[in-house]
Amino acid sequence: MSLLPKGPYGCPYLQLAPMEGVGDYCFRKAMASVGGFDEAVKDFLRVPQNAHVKSLSLAYTANELSPTSLTAQIMGSDPELMGEMAQELMKRGAPRIDVNCGCPSNIVTGRGAGSSLLKDPSFLHTVVRAVVKSVSIPVTVKMRSGYEDTSLFKENLLAAQESGVRYITLHPRTKVDGYGPPARWDLIAEAKSILKIPVVGNGDILKVEDALKMLETTKCDALMIGRGAVINPFIFHQIQSHFSRKSYKPQWNDLLNYLDVYIKSMPIDMPNKIQINKLKQLFGFLFKSTPKLLENRQAILTSRYENIVDFLNYAKPLLKEGWEYTERDSKLG
Ligand SMILES: Cc1cc2nc3c(=O)[nH]c(=O)nc-3n(C[C@H](O)[C@H](O)[C@H](O)COP(=O)(O)O)c2cc1C
Repeated sequence: MSLLPKGPYGCPYLQLAPMEGVGDYCFRKAMASVGGFDEAVKDFLRVPQNAHVKSLSLAYTANELSPTSLTAQIMGSDPELMGEMAQELMKRGAPRIDVNCGCPSNIVTGRGAGSSLLKDPSFLHTVVRAVVKSVSIPVTVKMRSGYEDTSLFKENLLAAQESGVRYITLHPRTKVDGYGPPARWDLIAEAKSILKIPVVGNGDILKVEDALKMLETTKCDALMIGRGAVINPFIFHQIQSHFSRKSYKPQWNDLLNYLDVYIKSMPIDMPNKIQINKLKQLFGFLFKSTPKLLENRQAILTSRYENIVDFLNYAKPLLKEGWEYTERDSKLG
């Protein structure tokens, strides 16, 4: 059975991307309350040298978004420990294990994990194969297009495929690119032509038109969206509604409910200052969704409030003002 089944009316399988620091528990819960996607991938669980995998695996809760499934992603470079971690996560109910071959962070890459695995396709194969052999659930890989350049692109894709993964999610930027230049969708098309296994396309989908263009130009099998969903939490529903041809118009109350779930999901003992910083980060994305909102983004980010109620009393009216349906519809499809 396909791991990436199409939805009604031929809508592609839609995944919420892992985003460490941004796409945390609060965000995932808020997104799940909106819905529209088929599956979420949790941000990476680090598997350092000498890791005690059992304790590390406790950070993953399989039914967190139930009934929407949550994939566990692991990042490390010790084949044995990666296999053991995958086993622990399987015992904790993970439906799938994704191996991170893309994280650009220097702390991570310094230890040979994440995007560093792309420097050596045969080592990538060793690590991923160890994971595949350790579990009876599907294993997948999420990768960038290379480390410094794309010279090993094909080799890395084939190494991952030969290790036995069920599909590859491609974010077509190199480690060195960071998030700077536009994602090279032509590489997603190239991966499709090289691989026998499915390819999930990822990178720079900000509106429905982008999703359609990626599908058409790359022939990828499914879509993963990260920042586009933080900017516009309704993007998955909007993609679905394009396929079903049923109108979908999120109301201001829908956004309020989303924010409410986000806020209620913050730990009660979280200091006010951290709560406000978290909300500023979230609003920083939301205020990118229309030109009108963009005008007030800097004011939101530089505002100084001591408590969350005052911050929300200031920020929500500005958000409402910019969240004009006609405008948003035309900008975000
Ligand atoms: C703040 C942030 C954290 C991220 N954390 C992860 C992560 O934990 N694992 C991962 O595979 N990719 C991670 N990514 C990459 C995203 O999953 C995704 O591949 C990338 O943002 C491109 O997709 P987008 O344009 O839809 O955001 C992260 C990206 C961002 C912006």
